[in-house]
Amino acid sequence: MNKRKILITSALPYANGSIHLGHLVEYVQTDIWVRFQKMQGHEVYYVCADDTHGTPIMLRAEKEGITPEALIERVHGEHLRDFSGFHVEFDNYYTTHSPETRQYSEEIYRKLQSAGLIVVRAIEQLYDPIKHMFLPDRFIKGECPKCGAKDQYGDNCEACGAAYTPTDLRNPYSAVSGAAPVKKTTEHFFFKLSDPRCVDFLREWTTSGTLQPEAANKMHEWLGAPGENKLADWDISRDAPYFGFEIPDVPGKYFYVWLDAPVGYIGSFKNLCDRRDIDFDNFWKTGTATELYHFIGKDILYFHALFWPAMLHYADYRTPTRVFAHGFLTVNGEKMSKSRGTFITAGSYLDKGLDPEWLRYYYATKLNGTMEDVDLNLEDFLMRVNSDLVGKYINIASRCAGFITRHFDGRLCDRICGPNGNSYLPLNDAWVDGCALIKKLQDAAAQIAGLYEKREYLKAAKAIMGLADEANQYVNDMRPWELVKQEEEASKTRLHEVCTIALNLFRLLTLYLKPVLPRLANNVETFLDIPPLQWRDAETLLLGHGIRPYKHLMTRIEQKQIDAMIEANKQAPAPTADAHSPARHAEAQQHLGATLGATISIDDFSKVDLRVAKIVNAEHVQGADKLLKLTLDIGSEQRTVFAGIKSAYDPEQLRGRLTVMVANLAPRKMKFGVSEGMVLAAGDGDGPYLLAPDAGARPGMKIK
Ligand code: MSP
Ligand code: ZN
Repeated sequence: MNKRKILITSALPYANGSIHLGHLVEYVQTDIWVRFQKMQGHEVYYVCADDTHGTPIMLRAEKEGITPEALIERVHGEHLRDFSGFHVEFDNYYTTHSPETRQYSEEIYRKLQSAGLIVVRAIEQLYDPIKHMFLPDRFIKGECPKCGAKDQYGDNCEACGAAYTPTDLRNPYSAVSGAAPVKKTTEHFFFKLSDPRCVDFLREWTTSGTLQPEAANKMHEWLGAPGENKLADWDISRDAPYFGFEIPDVPGKYFYVWLDAPVGYIGSFKNLCDRRDIDFDNFWKTGTATELYHFIGKDILYFHALFWPAMLHYADYRTPTRVFAHGFLTVNGEKMSKSRGTFITAGSYLDKGLDPEWLRYYYATKLNGTMEDVDLNLEDFLMRVNSDLVGKYINIASRCAGFITRHFDGRLCDRICGPNGNSYLPLNDAWVDGCALIKKLQDAAAQIAGLYEKREYLKAAKAIMGLADEANQYVNDMRPWELVKQEEEASKTRLHEVCTIALNLFRLLTLYLKPVLPRLANNVETFLDIPPLQWRDAETLLLGHGIRPYKHLMTRIEQKQIDAMIEANKQAPAPTADAHSPARHAEAQQHLGATLGATISIDDFSKVDLRVAKIVNAEHVQGADKLLKLTLDIGSEQRTVFAGIKSAYDPEQLRGRLTVMVANLAPRKMKFGVSEGMVLAAGDGDGPYLLAPDAGARPGMKIK
C-alpha cells in the first residue's frame, strides 16, 4: 500500500467561549476523517490549538479580574475536556500563545516584508479616550442612524436590520467604558494582497482544485474577473493595548489575531515534532509530497482560502492540499438560540449523561462534504440513533453472543466459509446465504472507504446501515433462539455457525463504523477479544477464537434526557454579543410600503444589472434645484449620473460612500448632460434615502 503522510487540522476555537454543538460539527467531522485515515495505515497527524489573542479575550480577562494568560489556560483545560468527552482525539492540542507560534509569525511577517508585501498606512479609527484604546466595530454602541433604536452595535442594527459603519451611529459610546469615542489617526500595517503578484497567485491557487466547487465560486466573486482588482489590502496590525504578539521592531503594534491564528497550525505541529520523531520540514517545505488539510467553517473561508495561502506562499512554505469548508449548525431548523435552550454546550450534553457517540453518529448521517448547513433535529436525532444503532447494529450482537458463551464455551466455529466463499460443507441454503453475506460485507470495504475519503459520511452511514439490515434479516431468518431449543446435534452445529456468521457480520460493521464510533468499537474489540481493528482487517474473518461474555454496548436515547439538556441551556434572552465571532451577519429586514407591485418573474428581475458603486465625486449642478451630479466607480469603469437627491444630501457627505446603481439603464440626455444610469434610493413622502451595501462590498459587485 502507498503510505500517505497527512497533516490534518481543525480551526482553532477562540479561547473565550465554550465549545458548543455547532463547533462539534467541525471537530467530529475532522476526527472521523482522521480516524479513517489512521485506520488505513497512513502516517497521520491531527493538530489544533486554542486561538488565544485579540481584544475580546483581553477584555474578557479584565472583566473576570484575571490576566489573559490565566484565562486562556483555564479555557484550554475546558476545551480539551469537552473535545475528549466527544472522543475527538488530537495528536496535539496546543495554544497560539506559544513560543513556536510567535517565532513562525515573526518569520512569516519578515519574509512578507522582504517580498515587498507589507505597507504602512495611516488610518482613522474610533478611539476610547477613557480606556485609551482603539475600538473594534463591535465594541461601539449607539443609536441606529435609521430607526433610532438604542444600544445598537457599530456594524448593524438588531431592531431594523440596517447596516452601517460605527461612525454613522448617533450618540455613539464605547461598550468598554461608556465614553464617547473620538476619531483618531493611527498607522497600521497592511499585507498588500492587491499586489498583482498576489492576485495572480490566488487566482491560480483557488482554481487549482484546492477548494470545493462552491467555495471556489465564492473566491472567484471575491477576486473578481481577471484584470479586475477586487482584493483589498489586509490590515494585519493592532495598536496597544492588545493581547497578542508585538510586531518585531515596532513597539506598541501587535499582530492582528488573524495573522497569528493560522500560524498556530504550524506552531502546534512544531511542538508535536519536538516531542515525537517527526520531520517538520517534510510537512511544511514547498514542494513536499506530504498532504495538508484544513477543516473549517464556511464563515472563515476568506481567511483560509485567500490570506493564509498567500502568507504561506510568499514566506516559502507549502500551501494546503485542500481546504474543506462545512456549513453551520441549526437546531430544529433554526439558528441556535440561548432563549430556546438550543445553544447547547458540549459540557451540558455530557453532564446530562447523553452518549457522545449518539451525536457523532447523527452528525455523520448529516454530512456530505459540502458547505450546506447541518440541522440537528432533536426528534430525528432520537429516532435515528435508536433505530440505526440500537435497533439494527447492536441488535445483531446482542441476539447472538449469549449462545456462543453459554453453549460453545465462548468459542466461534473454526471454519464457516472455505476459500471459495462457501465451499465448506454446506448444511443448508441459509448457511450458504450467510457466507455470501459475509463476502458481500467484505467486498463493501473499498466502496465505504471511498465515501469516507470524500467526506460523504451520510452515504457511508447509509451503506453500512443497509448492510446491517441484511445482517439482521439473516439472524431473523435463522432464528437462533429456536435452534437452541432443538435436540439434534445438527441444530447445535447450525446454531454455532449462525452465531459465528452473525458475529463476523457484526465485526465487519463495527470496523466500518469505527471512525464514527471509536469508543463503541473499542468496547466491541474488548468483547471479541481482538486487537484494534484496522481497515485491512475487513479481508479476514474471526474464526476458532474465544470471545468474552457480551456486555451491553449502547443504550437508547430517552426523550427526558434531551429535555433535561435543553432546560440546562435555557437562558434569559439577553443578546450577549459574541463579539469575537466573525460569523455575525446582519439579518436584513425589509420595510415594505403599503401597496406592493405586481409579481414579476426572476427573469424580469435579472434584466436589471444592479452594481455596487462607489461615489468618487459628488457636486452641485448649476441651475438645478433637485439634482446632484455623481461620478460613480463600478470597478470596470466610471459613470456620470444625475440624481434627484439634493434635498437630502450634501455632496460632501456622499464622497467615498458606496451605493447601488442600475448599470444597464439606457443613457438619458438631460438638460445638464447625459446621465449614464441611476442610483437607488428609498422614499415615500420622506427621503430620499440612498441605498448602501453592507461593509465588505466592493465597487462593481453584482447585486442579485
Ligand atoms: N478562531 C477562529 C478560527 C481560527 S483558525 C486559524 C474561529 N473560532 S470559532 O471558535 O469561532 O470557531 C471555530 C470553528 O468552529 C470554525 O471553523 C467555525 O466555523 C466553527 N463553528 C463555530 N460555530 C459553528 C456552528 N454554529 N456551526 C458549524 N460550525 C461552527 O473561527
Ligand atoms: Zn435600526
